[in-house]
Amino acid sequence: MRLDVITIFPAYLAPLRESLLGKAIADGRVDLAVHDLRDWATDRHRTVDDAPYGGGPGMVMKPDVWGRALDAVAQPSSTLVVPTPAGRRFTQPVAAELAGCAHLVFACGRYEGIDQRFVQDAASRMPVRELSIGDYVLAGGEVATMVIVEAVTRLLPGVLGNPESAVQDSFAGDLADLVEAPSYTRPPVYRGLPVPAVLTSGDHAAVAAWRAEQSRRRTTENRPDLLIQ
Ligand code: ADE
Repeated sequence: MRLDVITIFPAYLAPLRESLLGKAIADGRVDLAVHDLRDWATDRHRTVDDAPYGGGPGMVMKPDVWGRALDAVAQPSSTLVVPTPAGRRFTQPVAAELAGCAHLVFACGRYEGIDQRFVQDAASRMPVRELSIGDYVLAGGEVATMVIVEAVTRLLPGVLGNPESAVQDSFAGDLADLVEAPSYTRPPVYRGLPVPAVLTSGDHAAVAAWRAEQSRRRTTENRPDLLIQ
């Protein structure tokens, strides 16, 4: 998979080269390029924003600068991802869909966002996904891009050490509408707290039943919204 990220803060994206994704890049499974939007500005000050039409606070990012940047990185197989609190909700099924794409371009907006004509124009040439990672407002699209990239790339073949992990996650596979059961490891007693006895019983059916029950209990307590369909 090829990933291009366009931002005015390229250094913000440095953590993408760490850990599992860093290894996937080193192994050639993922090809990542981060670009400075200002490289496509044309004036001496490398301006990327201007005052909003219709008035209001803040600044809006200029469509012409974004358009040139996208033209430079786009390929016939590109899907454009625009992280925005005004987008559709980014969920595990959306991550799975994006994992099937050959090329993702991320447009990280700042300030009051990007002139909507950039998105409109791009949509006439390629699939465009405006995505929100949650009901809160970040300072820009960079962190949202990192969230989406991490959720998507860990689903690619060979990126996770153990592919079973992705299947067992909350919101995927068997647990589509439930969160995961809690996990435990050694020592058997930590600060007076023993590991639930069933987990050391060696009875696999009992362990599976206990996990299913814990999963339901946790979902009821923490995420009742998942149970109301
Ligand atoms: N940019 C600012 N806030 C955001 C959010 N919640 N999701 C995606 N992009 C954003």
